[in-house]
Order: sequence, then structure tokens, then C-alpha cells
Amino acid sequence: MVIKKIVILFSGTGSNLEKLLENLHHKTFEHCTIEVATTICNRPHAEGIEKSRHYGIEPLILDHTLFEKREDFDKALVEAIHKSGAELTVLAGFMRFLTPCFTQNIKAINLHPSLLPLFKGGKAIEESFHSPLKTAGISVHYVSEELDGGDIIAQKSFEKTEGMSFEDFESKIHILEHELLPETIKNLLNRK
Ligand code: GAR
Repeated sequence: MVIKKIVILFSGTGSNLEKLLENLHHKTFEHCTIEVATTICNRPHAEGIEKSRHYGIEPLILDHTLFEKREDFDKALVEAIHKSGAELTVLAGFMRFLTPCFTQNIKAINLHPSLLPLFKGGKAIEESFHSPLKTAGISVHYVSEELDGGDIIAQKSFEKTEGMSFEDFESKIHILEHELLPETIKNLLNRK
């Protein structure tokens, strides 16, 4: 059976990281077995670190504050990813702007909490909640030079209900993310 390796990058809570480890790590599908080669975190105290350890993967911590230039951090990231032998890198709540040093060398996908191209950037959930639009959702897209601008691979949407609280809205987003991201990666990799 072909083994397909992925790397997961995260910065915070790591609920998506956890779902990926639970649903994909060492799981065998029709055409491949998926292995999470490593996980990488840019914040030394992120909650997700313990979640990764729970699945037996000691995350590589690359603290971005210790790098003088953005490119230096990205260079270290690229080196670690190449070393892992992964064919796909997954940004699961990885909160960094990436330079061409990364985007030109790494095949990566990103999870974003809005129906792109709407609400790019770091305030997507708030902006989409407060917008007059009745439909909201999430996207998985390829990482390109443009922030949240690469080709869209998959999306899921839902209707904002009358009187929906921000907490309910956010939690609906996370529920959909936890389904869509593992499913999308499986569909990308589980091919002949
Ligand atoms: C997720 O909602 C993800 O869509 C978002 O960060 C959260 C991470 O949650 N990513 C972005 O906003 C990227 N621009 P998690 O740490 O619990 O997986």
C-alpha cells in the first residue's frame, strides 16, 4: 500500500489538527495509507501541542519571534517540510503570512472560515457573522502568494438562522471544518 505523508501546521487551539490526526493518521483508504509525518507549530504554548502529543507526534516548534526576518522563518519551515518527505502540507489554523519562499516551494492547502472569496483575512468569522448575507460557510483552498486567494478546492455552507448567537455561529463553522478538512485531504490523496 502506498503511504502518503502530510505535514500539519497550526498556531493555536488545534481542534482541526486533532480531527486530522483522529481521522487520517495511519488510516488506510482504497488507494493509500495516510501518515502525518510531522506537525509544526509557531507558538511554543499553543494548546494544540498536547493534542499532537496525544497521537504520539512531538510537534516541531518553530517560534517565529526568534527569527529576524519573515523569510528566515519561512526558510526553516520549508526545510523542515522537505525533510519530512510529505507531499502535502496542511495549514490548520496556522496564523502566519507566508512569503514566496514558502508558497513557491511547498504544495499546501489552507482552511479558512468563510466562503471565499468573501471575508479574506484574520477576522473572517466576525465579518461573516455581522454581514447582511444569509449564507455563511468555510473553504479549503490551495495556498498561493495572495492571502486566502489560491484556487478553491472545497466549500461547505449553512444558513444563518434568525437570532443565531455569535457562539452558535462560530461553533457551526468549527463543526463543518472538522468534517470538510479531513474529507478534502482524503479526496486529494486517495487517488491511484
Ligand atoms: C479555524 O477556524 C480556521 O478556519 C481558522 O483558524 C481556526 C483554527 O482553529 N483559520 C484561519 O482563520 C486562517 N486564515 P483550531 O486551532 O481549533 O483548528
